[in-house]
Formats: sequence, C-alpha cells, structure tokens
Amino acid sequence: MHTDDKRQLEVFLDTNNKCNLRCLTCVFSDPRVERIPMRTMSHDLFSAVCEQVLPHAEYATLSCLTEPLMTRDFTSYLLEAGRAEVPRLEFVTNGLLLREEHLGACIEARLWRMTISVDGADATTYERIRQGASFELLQQKIALTTGHFSRSHHQPHIRIIMTLIQENFLSAADAVRRFIEWGATEIELRETVTFPEIGLEDRQLHNRQSELVGVLRQAEAIAEEAGIPIEIISENAPDVGLDLGNIPPCHALEKRVAIAPGGDVMPCMLWGRKPLGNLERNTFEEIWNGRPRQAFRDEFRRDQPVMWCPSCTACKEDPRDEDAYYRLLAQGSPAKLPLP
Ligand SMILES: C[S@@+](CC[C@H](N)C(=O)[O-])C[C@H]1O[C@@H](n2cnc3c(N)ncnc32)[C@H](O)[C@@H]1O
Ligand code: SF4
Ligand code: SF4
Repeated sequence: MHTDDKRQLEVFLDTNNKCNLRCLTCVFSDPRVERIPMRTMSHDLFSAVCEQVLPHAEYATLSCLTEPLMTRDFTSYLLEAGRAEVPRLEFVTNGLLLREEHLGACIEARLWRMTISVDGADATTYERIRQGASFELLQQKIALTTGHFSRSHHQPHIRIIMTLIQENFLSAADAVRRFIEWGATEIELRETVTFPEIGLEDRQLHNRQSELVGVLRQAEAIAEEAGIPIEIISENAPDVGLDLGNIPPCHALEKRVAIAPGGDVMPCMLWGRKPLGNLERNTFEEIWNGRPRQAFRDEFRRDQPVMWCPSCTACKEDPRDEDAYYRLLAQGSPAKLPLP
C-alpha cells in the first residue's frame, strides 16, 4: 500500500486483552483466560496505528474480541483515532463501563457508530448469559448514551447486537421491540461461532431450526415496520437474513487488517496462522508489502475460501486448531501459561 492509495482498508483492533464480563457465548468464559495478564496497547503503538494505518481506512473498529472500556484512558485513544477522520469509525462494547467522558469523546471524534451487545430482553435472560452484568445498569447506560447523543451536534448510530443461543433465541422478537424502544438505530441478530472449552456447542441452535425461523421472521417484521435496519446472520435459518448460498470469497488478504494489543498484524481477528508482522518492529507499509502477506494473498486468490468465518479453516494452519483466539489474547504473555 502506498500513501496515495484511496481509503479502502477495513481495520479491526483491540486496545486490550481483557473483559469485565464472562458471557456464556464468549472465550472469556474459558477458565484459562482469567490467568492471562492484562495487556494494553501502548500509546506509542496506538499513535503508530493512527499515523500509518487509519489514513488508509474506510472502516475501523476500536474493539473486536475484547472490551474496549477496560482500557483505562480509552477516551484518549478514541480522540486520537477521531483525528484520522476514518469515514466509518466504531467500537463494540457491553456498555456497562460507559461514562460521560466516553460519550463526549464519541461526539468529538465524530464516531460513526457505537455497537452495544445485549443478549436478552429481560433481566433474567440477560444476566444468565452476560455473566457479571446487571440489566438495570445496562438500561441506565443506554439511556445515558441516547440522551447524550440526542443533545449533541453529531449523532452516532447506535447498533444493538444480540447473539442467539438456546437460552434466549425464543425471545428475539420481544428483544427487537425493546431495543427499538431504547433507541437502537440498527439491530443485528447473530448465531454464534464456537470456541473450545466453554461448552457452547450444546447451546447452539442446530436442533431448533423451525422455531428459529419463526421467531426471526417476527423479529424482521417488527424492525421493518419501525424502519430500523436489521441484519440477521443465522446458519440454522438459512432463508432468513444473510443469503448463505451466495457468500463471496474472503477479501481479508486484499483489504482487511486486524491489530492485536501487542502489535501483531493479521488479516482478521480469527487468524490462527503466522501474523503478517508486528508494528513494534516494522512499519505498516513494510508489513503490507511484505512477503508473508503476499504469500497468503496468493494462496487466497488461488483457493478462494468463502467469507464465512464460523466454519473458516483458511485462517488456521491445522483445521483442528481451535485455540487461536486464546493464543491471541495471551500474545506477549510468558510462553507457558498455566493450564487448568
Ligand atoms: C466479543 S465481543 C467484544 C466487544 C464487547 N465486549 C461486547 O460484548 O460487545 C464482540 C461481539 O461478539 C459477540 N459474541 C460473543 N460471543 C460470540 C460468539 N461465540 N460468536 C459470535 N459473536 C459473539 C458479542 O455479543 C459482541 O457483540
Ligand atoms: S462478549 Fe464481550 S462482554 Fe461478553 S465476555 Fe466476551 S468480550 Fe466480554
Ligand atoms: S473467512 Fe476466514 S480468513 Fe476470512 S475473515 Fe473470516 S475467519 Fe478470517
């Protein structure tokens, strides 16, 4: 990539490797993750991202796998990213640690969208899935956010994501109604990617297809009637939402980059193969034009793996390797982390 290239990159990064919750759907409920020492992206590294990577970005998210508000001065990261003027800048959060100063920074940075993850429409379901969370606090934080944004000169979109598992999928239509009442401007309903060690397979919806189709159709109709865009990503209800029969080849090696808190640069955040380089040691230009990326790009052009991340094996050296996510969180930790 050369500096005169137009903005075309999709950038996914995490500024830390921690979370305040242990959701049933997430690798943070893997008991090994607890023992990984906290790591925060240094200001210098983040500045390098802002100077070298974000000027090429059309889209950037300041969180992907972990909780952005665990980064103590996330506000300053947000403000610095805002100066790069990425057309679509967002972050994804559980929302519970949101404070006025974050919201002020969202406006100053001209954030395009804040995504809040809410896996239940009532306290019992939400707190059962989002372990460690409080539904009451969530509602307060959403009200704080919508209130702040509605009084501001710039209004970021507010997207709510709900992951669907056995414990909550039957309430998806009620949840959509509630998210609209709360002020969501976009909604996403998604089935889950599995991770090892957390027992998620048993919570997935392979055996609930007809009920799933019914409830997702209702959810879709409610959102459509309210004029709220809704995205549905469901493997077990293939006729609803995203057309799974028509998925394009993965474009991660052409225009996507994922950056871990320790500086590793990868084509995506589920990448379990060698990183393309590390921003502590190389410039982004060196990494982007370097041999590892070129070799992977040639492989992807030849093999054309589809862009369906839940069952992707192109991102793994060994298709049975299911621990890439864990290794990513542990990056830079002592080589031998204790196993339970
Ligand atoms: C991993 S979280 C990180 C950001 C933040 N902590 C949050 O919960 O929004 C990013 C998104 O992934 C969703 N998620 C969690 N577990 C998932 C799974 N197994 N498959 C797909 N999405 C998942 C979350 O609900 C959230 O919307
Ligand atoms: S989904 Fe988000 S909030 Fe829940 S444990 Fe994972 S990173 Fe934390
Ligand atoms: S399809 Fe595979 S390589 Fe492409 S973005 Fe998804 S997980 Fe990554």
